[in-house]
Parts: sequence; structure tokens; C-alpha cells
Amino acid sequence: MATMKDIAKRAGVSTSTVSHVINKTRYVSDEIAARVNQAAKDLNYSPSALARSLKMNRTKTLGMLVTTSTNPFFGEVVKGVERSCYQKGYNLILCNTEGDDHRMKESINTLLEKRVDGLILMCSALEGEHIDAFDRFPGVPVVVMDRGPVHFACDKIQDNSLLGGFMATNYLIECGHREIGCITGPLKIHQAYMRYEGFKKAMTNAKLPINPAWVAEANFECDGGVDAFEHICQRGPLPSALFVGNDMMAMGVVNAAHARGIRIPQDLSIIGYDDIYIAKYITPPLTTIHQPKHRLGTAAVEALVNRLDKHKTDAQVVHLEPTLVVRDSVREYIA
Ligand code: RIB
Repeated sequence: MATMKDIAKRAGVSTSTVSHVINKTRYVSDEIAARVNQAAKDLNYSPSALARSLKMNRTKTLGMLVTTSTNPFFGEVVKGVERSCYQKGYNLILCNTEGDDHRMKESINTLLEKRVDGLILMCSALEGEHIDAFDRFPGVPVVVMDRGPVHFACDKIQDNSLLGGFMATNYLIECGHREIGCITGPLKIHQAYMRYEGFKKAMTNAKLPINPAWVAEANFECDGGVDAFEHICQRGPLPSALFVGNDMMAMGVVNAAHARGIRIPQDLSIIGYDDIYIAKYITPPLTTIHQPKHRLGTAAVEALVNRLDKHKTDAQVVHLEPTLVVRDSVREYIA
């Protein structure tokens, strides 16, 4: 394997000149640059990312943790992150935590030991946790996405879930519904809690009572939506509409309702949250709250790279606003 020293000898220049030409870290005359590049070609030289990272003290690699890759929401955010990394010349190492606190801490430690230049964290086990690895690797920029209070310095990119939950519920009210239930995500997760708070705020504003028989907590997954809907069914008559805290649970509810012969939206209106790619392809196409997933991803990379390049010190919080997407799973309700 040819080295920079071999190139320098063949081109008749110093090794540092070879390094400047290959890493483009300083101007070198066209004539010398041509000699160096020709020597590199003749020797079939392949730059070493490891050597470059040691010299530049940068690996041009970012690490990202997500809760799970099975929820399309994360896949769509990761797509935005990965595309932005590519455009900015960075690589991405992606880890799943599956909600496991120990696995999350292990992954963060591994990524920092691999000297990633920054970390993007979007995992539920993070909230309220102290991450020892950050004490051992101080100064590594971290962006927390889509999660709540954390006990370490970081930038934050967040959906306004309080507004989103309010918008979803208020839309049902504007469609004439008065008996409205809510299936929440895990309330220990900040976004799930804030969507539920948004639901309660809209109901209070409209002076509508909240029937606890129509409220159930689930796990942000399809199976959790099914179980929560079954519990609500077993408690007695159904409401005319349900706000479900994410599209994955909403798809579970639609499936469980169909199995019971309950028609959506004729018998029961459903509104979800996230606007994942498949939401418009289920039957009926899901009315939901759109989270700007791609922008969540690109904003996270921009926050990290800005901090790496400009050494920004002040922590920043970027709020991304949700929007209503009306499809076919909610009907006008006439009492
Ligand atoms: O953890 C899964 C959920 O959290 C997603 O569906 C999205 O709503 C995120 O906030």
C-alpha cells in the first residue's frame, strides 16, 4: 500500500507538500500539484481516512441513536439526516436503542470512542438520564431531537407537540364531535405527554368533558394502538372520535376497529400524528398532524456542523411547527 512518503519520493517533493495537495489544506502550485497527483496515480495510492482524521482531528463522521427503525417516522427523519450528511461531506453511524437504557449508553460510549465528530440523539430512554460518557468526552457537540428534558448541554430540535395535540383535537371539535377520546403514547416521553396536554387544552377550551373511559395510554406502536382500543371498547359505548398520539398506533386502531365491524369514519373518526409516508395509503387514508420529519433531520445536522465549524457556544432550541393534513378518516358529526 503506497504511502505519502512514497509519493513524495516519486514526485520529488516533501511529504508535507503531498499532504497539502491530497488534503487541500494549503495552496500548492499547479505544476507541483500535478506531479504529486500523477505520482499518487502511478502508485495507485488510496487516502487513509484514519490517517486524515488523526491529522485533521476530525473523522467527518456523525453518530445517531434512534429508538427503533421499525417506526417509519424514524426512517424518514434518518433519511433527512443522512442526505444532509452526504451533502456536507459527513458519514453517519446509526444505532437503535429499542428503548433500552443500557444499550443506549453503550452505543453512545462506542460512538464517542470511535471519535465521531458529533452525536444526534432521538431516543426515548434519554429523558432525565445522566450520560457518563459525556463526562469522559467533554465538548463533543450533541443535538437532541424530538425528546424532552435532558441533563447535559446540547442543542434541541423539537416538534411543538402541545400545539399539534391541540390542533388534532380542535379539528375534531370543529367537525362537530363532542364525545372525543385519546390514545396517548408513553406519557413518560415528553412528546407523548405534550400531545395529551394539547388534547386536554382543546377539550377545556371547548368546555367539553373528558371521559376517562375513553382515554388510554399505549406504546407508540401498532400493537399498542390495538390493545388500547380494545380496552376502550371493553369499557362501554365508544366516543364518536379518537385522537391517537401517532400514526403507528392509529393504524392499529383502524385495524382493530375493522375487525370489530366498526366503520372508519362512519362509526368512529380517527386522527393520528406524524403523517408518516404510508398514512395516505391505508384504508381510509389517515387524517393526521404532519411532523416536518425531513426538516427535523436536516436541522439536526446543520446545528451540529455549525457548532463544529463555528464553535458556537450558546445552546439553541429549534421549534418546528406541526400542520393539519385532512384525508378521509374523520367525518362531520351531526348529533
Ligand atoms: O417514538 C415514536 C414517536 O415519537 C414517533 O411516532 C413520533 O411521534 C415521535 O415523536
